Amino acid sequence: MRIAVLSETDSAEPRVAAVPETVKKFKTLGADITVQAGAGLKAGILDSEYEAAGAEIAGSAADAARDADLVLKVRRPAGEELSLFKRGATIIAIMDPYGNEAALKALAEAGVSGFAMELMPRITRAQVMDVLSSQANLAGYRAVVDGAAEYGRAMPMMMTAAGTVPAARVFIMGVGVAGLQAIATARRMGAVVTATDVRPATKEQVESLGAKFVAVEDDEFKQAETAGGYAKEMSAGYQAKQAELVKGHIAKQDIVITTALIPGRPAPKLVSEEMVASMKPGSVLIDLAVERGGNVAGAKPGEIVVTDRGVKIVGHTNVPGRLAATASSLYARNLYAFVETLIDKESKALAINWDDELVKATNLTRDGSVVHASFQSKTDGPASEAAAVGLAKSETGKAEAAPAPSGTH
Ligand code: NAI
Repeated sequence: MRIAVLSETDSAEPRVAAVPETVKKFKTLGADITVQAGAGLKAGILDSEYEAAGAEIAGSAADAARDADLVLKVRRPAGEELSLFKRGATIIAIMDPYGNEAALKALAEAGVSGFAMELMPRITRAQVMDVLSSQANLAGYRAVVDGAAEYGRAMPMMMTAAGTVPAARVFIMGVGVAGLQAIATARRMGAVVTATDVRPATKEQVESLGAKFVAVEDDEFKQAETAGGYAKEMSAGYQAKQAELVKGHIAKQDIVITTALIPGRPAPKLVSEEMVASMKPGSVLIDLAVERGGNVAGAKPGEIVVTDRGVKIVGHTNVPGRLAATASSLYARNLYAFVETLIDKESKALAINWDDELVKATNLTRDGSVVHASFQSKTDGPASEAAAVGLAKSETGKAEAAPAPSGTH
């Protein structure tokens, strides 16, 4: 069995799908590995390090992919890469399938079996393969580092001979994987941290990290979590109460980090123009949801907007990519853990069990067709309706809002 690791064609993607550690592990499983020359450079990995781990280096994507049974990538292959793969090859990546049906059709027509890592079910067995978590955790950490770097004052309280410096006030909005790591990081840096979410389970998590929980805790709040553990879209009435509470709180904050997402829907608008205007000059907002419509009014993907009152709104995209080495290392381990389940240890060949729930949840294309129920064409029946709003089957079997992929993950 031959595995190929290709360079990313998108120049905004510095991550790589394998690291020397996973190359060694794949070799132990009996696979041959070819890495495209330079694939790891932006993540700080030299070709010679892949070679030392047992990989062969190919000069081009075509040379790397030609005989590959399995191709590993960070992002979905671009149209021009599809002709490089042999028919029947398996391609695993973060496929970004929602709203990209034409690209999925092209993947199917190339005759490859495409798998989307971000559709991995969030069950205990698959935790080690959960790219949404591995990447969101790093995004949460990096958001605090970016916030601290943009902020013109110190984070911790300092008592110096020249006087006392107050601790920065940091407010985290949305306490999923990214938000929890942001709280922990901001606390370690000495900030006074508060956080909000609409899911009641987060209150205890916030408090256990030493931060204060701020939220409208009414009856709707008590039922805001879906069976799958995600947030529901809140009513206009709740949003108004939430906005009123946040309005008073945000004016006193130095750094605000927003991470709020609702699966299959645009990101909720949490910070209005008026709230931004109420903040002190020099305050910083980091919008981790900017690629999904944004939580902060005025946030622009890929830009740092400075308002006329001197408040910075930071809209970095691909935030895990801002820690390319660490993000690659965790993504590569997620990939290895999944691939290991697809290989027969005796024959040392790919032996995909198409009935496995992890395979069924992540497999997009096979034998020339789009096979994932959420992405079949609109004329194919009821499943297509679910696809239109980004729904998939949950562990409970009920229609459950599935995590729509985003570049921050
Ligand atoms: P996410 O990326 O979908 O959303 C981020 C956060 O935004 C969530 O906590 C959500 O409740 C919050 N949010 C949504 N609307 C909001 C609003 N109007 N105001 C404030 N906050 C709002 O969430 P993520 O990080 O993917 O985590 C979702 C759930 O999945 C969590 O319960 C997490 O613990 C769970 N999870 C389970 C795993 C497992 O293997 N069992 C692994 C990772 C996460």
